Amino acid sequence: MMFCVLTRLSLYLLHTDAYKKRTKRDTMGENTTLSKKDPLEAIAAEVAICQKCPLAKTRKNAVAGEGNPDTQVMFIGEAPGYWEDIKGRPFVGDAGKFLDSLLSEIGFSREDVFIGNVLKCRPPGNREPQPSEVQACTPYLDRQIKVIQPRIIVTLGNHSTAYVFSKGGLAFTGITKVHGKFYDVSLLGMKVTVFSTFHPAAALYHPKYKQLIIEDFKLLKERLEKEGIITY
Ligand code: URA
Ligand code: SF4
Repeated sequence: MMFCVLTRLSLYLLHTDAYKKRTKRDTMGENTTLSKKDPLEAIAAEVAICQKCPLAKTRKNAVAGEGNPDTQVMFIGEAPGYWEDIKGRPFVGDAGKFLDSLLSEIGFSREDVFIGNVLKCRPPGNREPQPSEVQACTPYLDRQIKVIQPRIIVTLGNHSTAYVFSKGGLAFTGITKVHGKFYDVSLLGMKVTVFSTFHPAAALYHPKYKQLIIEDFKLLKERLEKEGIITY
């Protein structure tokens, strides 16, 4: 009798939503939704009240990053800008709209991927991140990467590319040299492919970069299809 109840219970569980979560665009890893969501929320809660660098004094809201905890594709930008600081969410200004359109071109919405930044708080006037700020803040990014364990990290712009390259033991020779290429590296104790492109904000000012980003995203799409990360 007991055996029968257990069998029926496991059959029932197999048909619940938790087991059916794979979508047609299968960005999910193993069935680890619960185990990744909690640590990511814990990191976000720490970031929200962080005082580890002077940017804490000038921010309105820290921006921890957001997306699908079980994604295989993680995008990393530079730092929150004006609108991100106000809303507490990554890439919600004009650069974010362009990023959304690039994502949709490759069959993703932002709910399919994770989007984070090197710095979690806005540098005043959108100035460049300073090395001391990067040093203070990137332990949060490292922890996010370790929780998510992405197969591909897409870096957007110079700062995130320089940071991820250094973590992966690669020489960073400038975004114009390294963009649009796939680098298989060992990073934070895991195997990951790094792909870099220009920052979406650069595209808003220079049509040349816009075209290059669009071309890079086409290469990214091909790779994601080849690896079975995007299926239609
Ligand atoms: N630029 C970034 O690098 N990150 C954001 O979140 C927004 C703009
Ligand atoms: Fe903390 Fe990073 Fe914000 Fe500095 S930028 S206060 S280290 S969360």
